[in-house]
Amino acid sequence: MHLQTIEKPHGKNVFEAILARRTVRAFSPDKPSRHAIQTLLEAAVRAPTAMQEEPWAFVVVQNKQTLKQLSDRAKPIFIEEMRHRNAQGVRHSFEHFARNDFDMFHGANTLLIICAKPLSPFVVADCWLAAENLMLAACDMGLGSCVIGSAVSVLNIHMVKTELGIPAEYSVIAPIVVGVPLEETVATPRKEPLVLSWKQ
Ligand SMILES: Cc1cc2nc3c(=O)[nH]c(=O)nc-3n(C[C@H](O)[C@H](O)[C@H](O)COP(=O)(O)O)c2cc1C
Repeated sequence: MHLQTIEKPHGKNVFEAILARRTVRAFSPDKPSRHAIQTLLEAAVRAPTAMQEEPWAFVVVQNKQTLKQLSDRAKPIFIEEMRHRNAQGVRHSFEHFARNDFDMFHGANTLLIICAKPLSPFVVADCWLAAENLMLAACDMGLGSCVIGSAVSVLNIHMVKTELGIPAEYSVIAPIVVGVPLEETVATPRKEPLVLSWKQ
């Protein structure tokens, strides 16, 4: 990969891309090309990285059957986690996860998994920064993305990692689906930034 040669396919400026990015949960059947995925990974590894450790590694899953199996295995695990959290007072609805036809990956045909080698306490931060770079680049390239936090637990099961070629010492941090959006997605609102103090 030639990191200096990241193309600017659409050419949004950074702030435009930040405002245009939104979570996409409906994808067309078109698969992002190999070249597009490589560009996303190049953008990911340009993220800041504590002590220059670059702890990340990536898995690309584009096999429909594998995605279906992962979704089916992830759902009962996630439902159990949510039950446990709700029992502790958090109120999250998760009924839709129990539906047979519910796909954790929202019909996307490309799952990118950002994994971390546990080099320092900062590797999780590094990987999430890489994730945001990747999603902003995807937006700039006309691709939609969605973080699938609900699949983290299943992807960290030893057997699942082995099946996906993830060495035992790596942890799965950020599963992200990407694809061609099927429709326009309305932006979700945000609260004003809460500034706790501003000392001058
Ligand atoms: C850590 C994390 C985990 C998430 N997990 C899921 C998930 O499992 N499934 C899903 O559909 N969206 C997931 N999302 C997407 C959020 O629901 C979404 O970012 C939020 O609703 C705000 O919408 P926006 O990204 O369009 O601004 C996740 C986002 C983050 C940051």
